[in-house]
Amino acid sequence: MALDPALIRKSYPIYRHFAGTGETFIYLDNAATTQKPDSVIDAELAYYREFCANVHRSPHKLGEEATNCFELARASIAKFLNIDDPSQAIFTSSTTGSINIVANILAGQYLKPGDVILLTPSEHHSNLVPWQMAAARSGATLEFIDIFPDGTFDYDQVGRNWNPRTKVLAFQHASNVTGAIHDVETLSGLARHNGALSVIDGAQAVAHLPVDLNALDCDFYAFSGHKCVGPTGIGVLYGKRELLERFTPVFGGGEMILRVQRQSSTYNALPYKFEPGTPNIAGAIGLGAAVEYLMGLGMSEIASYVDALAEYACQRLSKVDRVTIAGPLTNRTGAISFNINGCHPHDIASILDHRGIAIRAGVHCAEPLMEALGVASTARASFYFYNTRDEVDQLVSALENTKEILGQ
Ligand code: ALA
Repeated sequence: MALDPALIRKSYPIYRHFAGTGETFIYLDNAATTQKPDSVIDAELAYYREFCANVHRSPHKLGEEATNCFELARASIAKFLNIDDPSQAIFTSSTTGSINIVANILAGQYLKPGDVILLTPSEHHSNLVPWQMAAARSGATLEFIDIFPDGTFDYDQVGRNWNPRTKVLAFQHASNVTGAIHDVETLSGLARHNGALSVIDGAQAVAHLPVDLNALDCDFYAFSGHKCVGPTGIGVLYGKRELLERFTPVFGGGEMILRVQRQSSTYNALPYKFEPGTPNIAGAIGLGAAVEYLMGLGMSEIASYVDALAEYACQRLSKVDRVTIAGPLTNRTGAISFNINGCHPHDIASILDHRGIAIRAGVHCAEPLMEALGVASTARASFYFYNTRDEVDQLVSALENTKEILGQ
């Protein structure tokens, strides 16, 4: 069934709040973080208000309830991503936290001097800087695949120019700047065929399209809760079981061990061996509620709605005088980066903000991509399923006025 944003907004305290104040609230910064529905906020609050206890260690009713809810959240995430075994979903702090764990593990236990870590110039800094650190530590080198001017990848070139020393292929499922959705199945297949591990940054994709990790068959996949209506400070790292079994953890502490002696320890079973210390229990429970909420709406329905809205926004924006869109017009998420010739993106964002329209401007934690696209920075409007065509129209009309205000 088609999504109805007016109905959806009734479940969002922030939309109710601004409906009450009467202020214009056009939130188009969803690639940075999404708004949260009642069910997510309520799930987090219920933990703190009704069954606040530690998990996996406290032998009392409250501890059991907290543990059950925490593990039910993990089961929901496994269903959401079509993972056979929930213990392959490790709770982390964020996409960044997840990628840092993988990069650290591979730097210490897998990469050798002269090996190649293959990346794309489109990566968010969170899928670049950890690999720079891993390269410095292991003696591996970084190489980058070619991208087209609209930010899409040159898949043929990746296969043709495959360097046999490549041991890791790390790339984003979707770009936080151009919105381009990339072909994970093809690239992770290429990595597997050539004996390399694939590591996917799913931060922008998980919120927007059905992600089936069984079908994608990648080695590691990372995402954050807050980009898909969940809480901040919680993320997930998925890994293939044999890899999670094979590698030892990079962080130690309580709960990740089976036995501790003075000189050495034995590690716990999955997923706990990668979850030292007290986890973000409320965040995990909130994320469980978030993915249940998204599955309730239907990820295919969300993808169709946001696709149509992004297509409409691209059409309307591309007709605004001196606007250029940095990114593909199809096979994209709701993140649309653009420039108005002669206007600085920060000025655009600031003028729109005065009109109640929230967008992001800058390099979007993707400096090498700015260089590849030939721009210093961009303005970015990013849409989600609670946004409307009317909001696109208001953005476009405010942009027309922006040029007038700036005297262009
Ligand atoms: N990665 C987030 C963004 O692109 C913060 O805005």
